[in-house]
Amino acid sequence: MSTNIIIGAQWGDEGKGKIVDLLSKDSDFVVRYQGGANAGHTIKFDDKEVVLHLIPSGIFNGDAVCIIGNGVVVDPAALVDEIKGVEKIGTSLKDRFFISSSAHVILPYHKILDNVREKSRGDDAIGTTGRGIGPAYVSKVARVGIRMGDLLDDARLTELVQTNVNEINKALKHVHNEPEIDADDILFNLRPIASQIAPYICNTTTLLHKALADGKDILLEGAQGSLLDVDHGTYPFVTSSSPTAGGACVGSGVPPTAIDHAIGITKAYSTRVGNGPYPTELHDETGKKLRKNGAEFGATTGRPRRCGWLDLVALKYAVDLNGMDQLALTKMDVLDDFDEIKVCTHYLVNGEKTDVYPVETGALENVEPVYKSFPGWKASCLEASTYDELPDNAKTYISFIEEYTGSYCSIISTGPGRTQTIVR
Ligand code: IMP
Repeated sequence: MSTNIIIGAQWGDEGKGKIVDLLSKDSDFVVRYQGGANAGHTIKFDDKEVVLHLIPSGIFNGDAVCIIGNGVVVDPAALVDEIKGVEKIGTSLKDRFFISSSAHVILPYHKILDNVREKSRGDDAIGTTGRGIGPAYVSKVARVGIRMGDLLDDARLTELVQTNVNEINKALKHVHNEPEIDADDILFNLRPIASQIAPYICNTTTLLHKALADGKDILLEGAQGSLLDVDHGTYPFVTSSSPTAGGACVGSGVPPTAIDHAIGITKAYSTRVGNGPYPTELHDETGKKLRKNGAEFGATTGRPRRCGWLDLVALKYAVDLNGMDQLALTKMDVLDDFDEIKVCTHYLVNGEKTDVYPVETGALENVEPVYKSFPGWKASCLEASTYDELPDNAKTYISFIEEYTGSYCSIISTGPGRTQTIVR
């Protein structure tokens, strides 16, 4: 029996989907605990490539029960599309998929608000995915949100949508100078979708408490990454939820005392989408090569990702923040043909060298990265099926990451496929 958390250790897109897919074959339950359809997990198997935004990546491996936890914000229309996509490739969701009745619903007005707020920020835009995530969490915290359980009660749903639309129309008309929206239209589109989702909605907290009591193995799957955490990330250039380990308990109802391991997922280099500080970003040919080798384009929005070297100051911060006792190092193969590979070990702040990650707003914009250089391995990591078979220079690189962060690289991913993975 074990309960483990999978957490992005950077700014998202670390390859969590592949690692969850891998670990879920030994899990009885896989639970998404925050975020929404802003995430995009690409899974490749049997010549199939599937991108999941909401349903836990564990759905394709083994027979784990997959849960969308209370901490997630669910776009019902996106979910129905995804359910159809999963079923189309022959995977049944019956008795294997449940949605928390306490998870909040994203409605069309959340997406409208996401986009108008971004527009009004001008040059200071966050660069959101436009999926309505921030406004949905605003509704939740303002205690006017609609929850998945409300989809099961039409009278309540109607009243809640009408009240929200009345309020939002005031803002659209008087603050944003945008067209108003119609509550009846929203309800007309929502009702058939709600009835398709209804069979999956239940009290998932109790389900998980029973699973713990029965000694089941549970995997809690985070989306985005630690540096996008609304409290601990590069605020305000963050998402609106808590991808960090604490968020896993809040967003699932699994108590902290039940957690055994926190596994951080990090690329062997780094990427970021959207705006915000990124000390090791490369604007040169090396950055372009990382993007090309790593096919670094967003799974949700298709945006080119910003690319750079691995930032160990930020990674150590993520390890400490989440208690990551293990790391999964992904996309090692992307570095295969580099002559030289760098990692950032310190920041220069006003000429002073430090290895402390600054949390103050704006501080990360003003740091200069200090790098340590490693010779490239100039060989294919894909060829290695055990750690020992990896090129020597690759092993030196991994050992340095372990030494610096104090965390053990228990999984090394050497390619996108399921089999291209070394588990130590
Ligand atoms: P939001 O989550 O759509 O509000 O976007 C807020 C910030 O988080 C933006 O910088 C997005 O690009 C970033 N973001 C959201 N989801 C992901 C993800 O799954 N991977 C990487 N970045 C993300």
